[in-house]
Amino acid sequence: MPSSRKALAIVLAAGEGTRMKSDAPKVLHQVAGRSMLAHVLTAVAEAGVESVAVVLGPGRDDVRAEALRLAPGAMTFVQAERLGTAHAVLAAREAIAAGCDDLLVLFADTPLVTGATIRALRAGLAEGAGVVALGFVAADPFGYGRLIQDAAGRLVAIREEKDASEAERAIRLSNAGLMALDGARALDWLTRIGNANAKGEYYLTDVIELARTDGRDAQVALAAETEVLGVNDRIQLARAEAVAQDRLRRAAMAAGVTMIAPETVFLCADTLFGRDVLIEPHVVIGPGVSIGDKAVIHAFSHLEGARVGAGATIGPFARLRPGAQLAEKAKVGNFVEIKNASVAAGAKVNHLTYIGDADIGANANIGAGTITCNYDGFFKYRTEIGENAFIGSNSALVAPVKIGAGAYVGSGSVVTRDVASDSLAVARGRQMEKAGWAAAFRAAQAAKKTKK
Ligand code: UD1
Ligand code: MG
Repeated sequence: MPSSRKALAIVLAAGEGTRMKSDAPKVLHQVAGRSMLAHVLTAVAEAGVESVAVVLGPGRDDVRAEALRLAPGAMTFVQAERLGTAHAVLAAREAIAAGCDDLLVLFADTPLVTGATIRALRAGLAEGAGVVALGFVAADPFGYGRLIQDAAGRLVAIREEKDASEAERAIRLSNAGLMALDGARALDWLTRIGNANAKGEYYLTDVIELARTDGRDAQVALAAETEVLGVNDRIQLARAEAVAQDRLRRAAMAAGVTMIAPETVFLCADTLFGRDVLIEPHVVIGPGVSIGDKAVIHAFSHLEGARVGAGATIGPFARLRPGAQLAEKAKVGNFVEIKNASVAAGAKVNHLTYIGDADIGANANIGAGTITCNYDGFFKYRTEIGENAFIGSNSALVAPVKIGAGAYVGSGSVVTRDVASDSLAVARGRQMEKAGWAAAFRAAQAAKKTKK
């Protein structure tokens, strides 16, 4: 892509999304742990587009905030009334008037479009086309605009379903909605678009005929249907999710991750993997997770906001919550929950344990059933466990508390005070024994029963 061409992307996100039946705006619904708007803005950035304008509905500060989170330099415009896609683009008139070579129009509810496809649209403009529309062959074209070509295969118009003739409706080559326009001519074309059509809307698609009357060529760039899937309801949202998951799994496997049953593993758009990671079946990974080289995630584990060091093993049935930081070769076993806590190299937390707001030193061993009592109903407190410490099973560590390096805590302890390094703390009832008591008790009770 010649970087000399200046591009502006206008992302349309003003749709009401009524079919989502949601209190949240459609474009903030998530696919692979990231809003649809974020996916589109990420693809725009990947395509080397320097200026971004987002068109939102009135009062949608949440959409504006999400746009600015991903593209801090983005301009935002409010489309007060929903009068059609060309009208929406013109909400960003000021940005278009500032001038660009490539004007790109994207829909925020079409989240799977890739940077490569946006580049392909731009390449058409660089070759001299006035407009490049993104097309796909729809399995069922109902509802889409159809791409009308002449005998030589040139794009001559896009006809919306409601305005199409019988013959035009039979065309399966459909409009994905994304378009690239010659930035120098775009504003003139857009302002000449009228609303004399079945819906009484200003159709962006009319730009094809306007460009051609101006003697400019209109091209079609092709995409796979899965890439241009538009999301209008939750069924389509789930379809988009499936496509996104498939892509993420393939990318992970291509980069050296083994998945025994990839179709049962769920990833996020931002999941990071090292090499030779093994992911067993039925693992769910939420946002903000990185997994180091040779780590193993056993079946049925759930990870979110966690860093897993090289060679660490997690699960089966483990839960890593936000702020879990596991160093190299740390082990977190079955039915263990780790939250906002660091587990240093080689430390083991193998069974039935809750570690929250804690720091566990290298090679420490946390026994089965250990609980860090980190919350008093109002505030959270930290537990510090030194390296090589040994926490006996079924212990409660009442934070704030420090267990020194190399210290032992006896099983079943409720530790409320700090334990010095290399000492033993036992905080439980002392064991007593009455010799022969059980036999005497049984005999006495049996005698009572016979009497009755
Ligand atoms: C549009 C295309 C159609 C294409 C289809 C692909 C037009 C006229 N038609 O139809 O050719 O096959 O997408 O999915 O462009 N929007 C606004 N403000 C508006 C209207 C729309 O922001 O006033 C936004 C929507 O939020 C959405 C996008 O533009 O992100 C598309 O609008 P939508 O009403 O879904 O267009 P379609 O009828 O699906
Ligand atoms: Mg639509």
